[in-house]
Amino acid sequence: MTALAHTRLRLLTCGALLIPSLAAAQSHLTHLRVDALDTPLGLDAEHPHFSWQIADPRQDAKQTAYHILVASRPELLADGKADIWDSGKIDADHSINVAYAGPTLKPRQRYYWNVRAWDQSGTPSPAATSWWETGLMHPKWPAAWITSPDTSNHAPVPLLRSTFTLAKPIAQARVYATALGTYRLSLNGTRVGQDLLTPDWTDYRIRVTYQTYDVTSLLHRGPNAIGAWLGKGWYGGPLGWEVGDFVFGAQPPRLSVALYVRYTDGSESLITSDSSWTTHESPIESAELYNGERYDARHEIDGWDRPGFDARRWTPARVVATSDTIRVTGQASPTIRETRTVHPVRHFSPKPGTYIYDIGQNLAGWVRLRVQGPAGTVVQLRFAEVLDSAGTGIYRDNLRKAEATDSYTLRGHGTEVFEPRFTYHGFRFVEVTGYPGTPPDDAITAVVLNTDASETMRFTTSDSVINRLWENIRWSQRANFYSVPTDCPQRDERLGWMGDAQVFWRTATFNMDLQAFTRKWLTDVRDGRIGDCYNNIAPRLDPPIAPCGGAGWADAGVIVTWTAARQYGDTQVVHENWAAMDAYLTSIRANNPDFIRKNTQAFEFADWLPADATVPTTKTAPALVATAYWAYDAQAMEMMARQLGRTADAERYHAIADSVRTAFVRAFVHSDGSVGKAFTNHDGVASDVTQTSLVMGLHPSLVPDSQRTAAVARLVRDITDHHDHLTTGFLGTAWLMNTLSESGQDSVAYRLLFQDTRPSWLYMIKHGATTMWERWNGDTGDRTMNSYNHYAFGAVGEWMYRFMVGIDADSAGYHAIRIQPRPNARLSHVHGEYDSPYGTIVSDWTLVNGTFTLSTTIPANTTATIVMPMGETHKVGAGTYRYSVQMTH
Ligand code: BGC
Repeated sequence: MTALAHTRLRLLTCGALLIPSLAAAQSHLTHLRVDALDTPLGLDAEHPHFSWQIADPRQDAKQTAYHILVASRPELLADGKADIWDSGKIDADHSINVAYAGPTLKPRQRYYWNVRAWDQSGTPSPAATSWWETGLMHPKWPAAWITSPDTSNHAPVPLLRSTFTLAKPIAQARVYATALGTYRLSLNGTRVGQDLLTPDWTDYRIRVTYQTYDVTSLLHRGPNAIGAWLGKGWYGGPLGWEVGDFVFGAQPPRLSVALYVRYTDGSESLITSDSSWTTHESPIESAELYNGERYDARHEIDGWDRPGFDARRWTPARVVATSDTIRVTGQASPTIRETRTVHPVRHFSPKPGTYIYDIGQNLAGWVRLRVQGPAGTVVQLRFAEVLDSAGTGIYRDNLRKAEATDSYTLRGHGTEVFEPRFTYHGFRFVEVTGYPGTPPDDAITAVVLNTDASETMRFTTSDSVINRLWENIRWSQRANFYSVPTDCPQRDERLGWMGDAQVFWRTATFNMDLQAFTRKWLTDVRDGRIGDCYNNIAPRLDPPIAPCGGAGWADAGVIVTWTAARQYGDTQVVHENWAAMDAYLTSIRANNPDFIRKNTQAFEFADWLPADATVPTTKTAPALVATAYWAYDAQAMEMMARQLGRTADAERYHAIADSVRTAFVRAFVHSDGSVGKAFTNHDGVASDVTQTSLVMGLHPSLVPDSQRTAAVARLVRDITDHHDHLTTGFLGTAWLMNTLSESGQDSVAYRLLFQDTRPSWLYMIKHGATTMWERWNGDTGDRTMNSYNHYAFGAVGEWMYRFMVGIDADSAGYHAIRIQPRPNARLSHVHGEYDSPYGTIVSDWTLVNGTFTLSTTIPANTTATIVMPMGETHKVGAGTYRYSVQMTH
């Protein structure tokens, strides 16, 4: 039973196992969220959106109505009263993204809300209660921007401090803090919050986020002290391999803080950063994202951030005029945090005094160093993804100009623990030199940082190598979700390359809850536009590394929006992006009246990094790729317009998609059904029909139905001619596996999946990969563009979830679910669980002695279409089901 999709299957048994109804069962509401966040502080949204899930074990459990109350005090809700907003009972079966429609929200207020839902028999659930707190909701930021007077670019990281006296008992306190740069805040000697590398990277020319912390417990009546470290971050450090410092605005980095204290008598104090603050050099001699951090513990200043400290030798902080046009907005997505630690699997000493630690996992973050020794001893840490070919030293050519080096100078008292603040590295290996004595096993711990969006996918199969592939995809996502989706975490790049993001977004949205993060990054994408044209990188660099409008890159503005709308049922993201998407597509049309997208302002990356290219150039005609993407964009616009109920726009985009399809067929589809266009790339290779050109014609259904079978056959033949290998780059790979499965070619997709000679996913794993490589030939390719941690080829995760596990969305947000796993004889077990917006969906199948058994869980308030191999279909409501079928030749 090798090519399962082509074997005749016979249905022997089929049965559903139902969870019995519980007599007294009632639904309970859980996962109450506002704008996809749990109890957010400092939300500036004027119309936040409410979501909840229904926990109800009964078969076919369903919501038939809901009722939301919003109040200023929790006691009111307990009495069923809403002094702010009462939605009334709404007959509706959706429980996600319900917009607040009450009066204008006040700044800095906690609002309490509750929701009840009625089930299929008209019985209401108990009310579930939660809250959110508004931010400053203020067009004008209330605090000055301050910095050290020593603004030379090589000055150490400054400390800034202030003291203040609170004369009355404190009821509550909130600090709103930000920087153009990166900051770490403390109050009375205690670090504020757990966030790292704040504020998020945004397009600082236009906006910066502030973070809100509840600091009530850190303050007391009497004297208090506030302190901050101020680094350069993304605002001030060099970005890209040829772009200098301060890409987004003028020197120097600057901090701004507003602390609101409310007393028990109802009165309030506001303490802000201003010229009364003082500053001093910190022990951080230098800190920069690519190069690393140098810390001299001998310069630590005890008690600097506590009251009572003698700051007479500190100098006054400088207030820096900062444009009011930079919007300072509340953080509305998960911040970067430490998400896990990893202990090295081994270490060795290639030569006296040099120790190399192998973390066993390529990752992004930094290390925590433990050391004891004489004052003034300098321990140096150099980071690398791989070892050199002899295996005795670290290999760093692929970091290009990024120095990726931290150093710690000992203070000389007891055990010292060093962890940097304002850098991060992509690494698996750490070279330690200068360590006093022989470092013990626990001298080094790797600390993983990433945007702390919750992980929403579990996956395991009977094949350990496939499981490793899944782990590698997730690790590459973690390593590159750093407030912006970056291409890589290690070299002098780490930019928000939009092509990489859009091919990976569906996989990414299964892996993590990215609803809030998507809205955040799409704001950067909009901010980075040049005229109507999306850039290729967001936040945009100036001068742009590549002009705007690259097909498959700039198109992320549309595709990422559509992906989030589909995955999360989020219409807000579509509303926010509609005008930008529409303007972008209108400009493409204006420049390409014949509907072939060949007139762009961009360098076309097209199918970037196809298999075994010696240079990263495409092997597929750029105009073909660009036109297919135009059609795909237009199709996505039509579907989004329908989601919003914009019928006229839907019709308009339907017509555009049709015109592009017609032009594509005329220009690129041959009479034998194959798709291609002769083209000479920088390698001098003339290409016509490629796997990518076929996939470009097939995936957005541009090839006419009458020629589809021939085109699919041609694709399969090309794969077979390459001895079951793909030849695709970033764009082609993302659509290849889906195209095969959508065309009844699951067995061919599985042959590509299980391929372990180059180019293939498993080749990477066979050669030690613990994250996704940038290039198929990562082991032999160009040394200067050879990242071992690029998620783009991890886009195969989407296929693994939608086709292998078989969990897909039949309607936006998984309100209607499709369960349609594609078995293969090489796997005896596949298990996937996805925490969808409506709850956890499970698909688990086994294939043992020819019997295929599917166990699936459909969450409350959803429906599912379950399609077994050979097409037997079940339409079900919420519940747990089990079906079997005997598969015979
Ligand atoms: C990056 C990419 C990116 C590309 C543009 C590279 O340097 O690492 O992943 O998409 O440039 O084509």
